[in-house]
Amino acid sequence: MAFPENFVWGAATSAYQIEGAANEEGRGESVWDMFCRQPGRVHEGCTGRTACDHYHRYKHDVSIMHSLGIPAYRFSVSWPRVLPAGTGGVNAPGLAFYDRLVDELLTAGIQPWVTLFHWDFPYALYCRGGWLNRESVEWFSDYAQVVVRALSDRVTHWLTFNEPQCFVGFGHLSGVHAPGVRHGLREALLAAHHVLLAHGRSVQAIRANAVRSPCVGWAPVGAVSAPVDPAEPADVEAARHASFALRPLEGPSDNALFNTTWWADPVVFGRYPEDGLKRFGDAVPDATADDMKTIAQPLDFYGVNIYSSSVIGARAQDGHPVTALKWPVTPQCLYWGPRFLFERYGLPLVITENGMSGIDWVSLDGKVHDPQRIDFIARHLNELRRCIADGVDVRGYFHWSLLDNFEWAEGYKERFGLIHVDFATQKRTLKDSAYWFAEVIKTNGKLPADHVWPRRGNGEDKHVI
Ligand code: FCB
Repeated sequence: MAFPENFVWGAATSAYQIEGAANEEGRGESVWDMFCRQPGRVHEGCTGRTACDHYHRYKHDVSIMHSLGIPAYRFSVSWPRVLPAGTGGVNAPGLAFYDRLVDELLTAGIQPWVTLFHWDFPYALYCRGGWLNRESVEWFSDYAQVVVRALSDRVTHWLTFNEPQCFVGFGHLSGVHAPGVRHGLREALLAAHHVLLAHGRSVQAIRANAVRSPCVGWAPVGAVSAPVDPAEPADVEAARHASFALRPLEGPSDNALFNTTWWADPVVFGRYPEDGLKRFGDAVPDATADDMKTIAQPLDFYGVNIYSSSVIGARAQDGHPVTALKWPVTPQCLYWGPRFLFERYGLPLVITENGMSGIDWVSLDGKVHDPQRIDFIARHLNELRRCIADGVDVRGYFHWSLLDNFEWAEGYKERFGLIHVDFATQKRTLKDSAYWFAEVIKTNGKLPADHVWPRRGNGEDKHVI
């Protein structure tokens, strides 16, 4: 069984995590630059100042993707690189970088999928109130317009926000991500409302300014649950319910916004979910009918980042495998997640991120052996294929990540890449999983039964690029 024809295979990254060149060619600061400077915030005091130096090495990185036959690449544009003050004057060299990157991708036959915002909010705008300031809605849609005008003669696939649950919730409530503030619920919900409005306004800006007919989506967290026993209807129902309920609050620094419906119900249905309105009470911002209309812009696809799920059911589950970052390995998340999301929201889905952090290093033989990542992807793709076979409209799968990179508060400790990066030398080494993923793509997901071990032979001397 293969995946549907035209299924999109890709790999994903984000600007702050890979670009580096933080102080070059007129880039403004983002809240992540500010956050990284604060002692104790990021593992070992790491920063994104150099990261994968992709800003200078993008041609090489694109050529690796080309050699692997990766057909699509999801990357993000750095707002402060394009608009150093967040609004106003465009930084021409910064914008030109994305122009060159898009050209390079297209020349290599790789389809660009552009995320407008993947967490690197302009510091200058943070100083003007950030997402708490309602003007942020227009700041963002103006920025979207600049990018769309520059790239939409070639780019057709657009995503507005990556994981608002994280940059609002972790950034403004639990404070573990930039800007690192521990506001109360009222402020966090206000920021969330502005982000939702900015999403809607930017969808409008994309549609109004795009040269080529755009395909527009977003990439929220898929905070989904799966049943312990899929043959048990009560477990399935409990998992469905949990997938669309707010999580119980576990403490003052909890991220109460880590759920699906507070974000997706407004975006798709134009209303906040009842249980949230009840739970958050008078912390909920005043939202006019016009606001809700603006938020609920028609989307062409629902992108979703799914790494794992909670597993819900009558029978408790004792123990489960975990990744290096201690995230549970629950491949069924790529069956139940898309299935539940499709049932509720009815939009075509794209898996915009899925992957794992591994304990990967370059072996004495010069290669990076990551059988667990291969097994992880294989198991997840098997579930995704089953989900599609059961009638769920899933259009693509983007692996997180193309490269090992700056993993936010975890610094460079976590390695999510198909390609190993030695951060001291910037040398790229293809992991076994990169070669294996190339096979997956080539066969459109017809995974060989003995999928776990990479094929030996002609790839032998190509590990080091
Ligand atoms: C997601 C983020 C992405 C990366 C992966 C591991 O939450 O969108 O930037 O950090 O997790």
